[in-house]
Amino acid sequence: MSTSHQKTSAAVAALKYVQDGMVLGLGSGSTAEIFVRKLGERVAQGLSVKGVPTSERTAEVAREAGIPLIPVDQADCLHVTVDGADEVDGKFQLIKGGGGCLLREKIIAHASDLMVVIIDETKLVGALGEFPLPVEVDPFAFTITAKKVFDALRSAGIERPDVQLRRKGDGLEPFITDGGNYILDCACGMIPDAPSADRALKAIPGVMEHGLFLGLARVVIVGEDSGARVMEL
Ligand code: A5P
Repeated sequence: MSTSHQKTSAAVAALKYVQDGMVLGLGSGSTAEIFVRKLGERVAQGLSVKGVPTSERTAEVAREAGIPLIPVDQADCLHVTVDGADEVDGKFQLIKGGGGCLLREKIIAHASDLMVVIIDETKLVGALGEFPLPVEVDPFAFTITAKKVFDALRSAGIERPDVQLRRKGDGLEPFITDGGNYILDCACGMIPDAPSADRALKAIPGVMEHGLFLGLARVVIVGEDSGARVMEL
């Protein structure tokens, strides 16, 4: 069966964490968008929730789906955030940011009472790192920051990281995040010690955020051909 079917199955299963009156963080990416559209169907049936989107694209999808949105600074609390991921390991450690929204996604996930991650089964891995780790950086002096990122990853036990500036589809212009930053995609092969990489990257002044989400997800829902498998920490 297709990954699209698996994503839908995970997205639908995440609706059980939504209750009337909640303020919800709305993640980004194709799986999160399916969730947003399914949530919109519930809103049309009378569910009352407010959404805080993690990207301009998700805001657009949520508006189309009829979900009332509030500016993040007007949200007194965030009850649940539902978001996708690029990789998830057995400790619920994640790599996110394939879509370039990691900074806002992490701010919202960190501020939420509960983060629910929805993935198709291809995202479940034994060890993080096959997916290139996105690192969001200030455009100022990004070449210096890129060298520091390389050194930081080496210090975290990654032998030969390959750090590349993400570019737009045309391959010429740098990709720009919603917050106006650049993304460095760091091919690591394997990340042997994610907390060590987290600390080393955070110590670099030009790094705004990186795509390792550690200690944030408490529920992971994996869409499988036979249905959704819910795992809770
Ligand atoms: C967006 O920046 C990402 O963190 C996405 O959540 C992640 O890339 C998963 O996206 P898909 O659901 O499209 O695979």
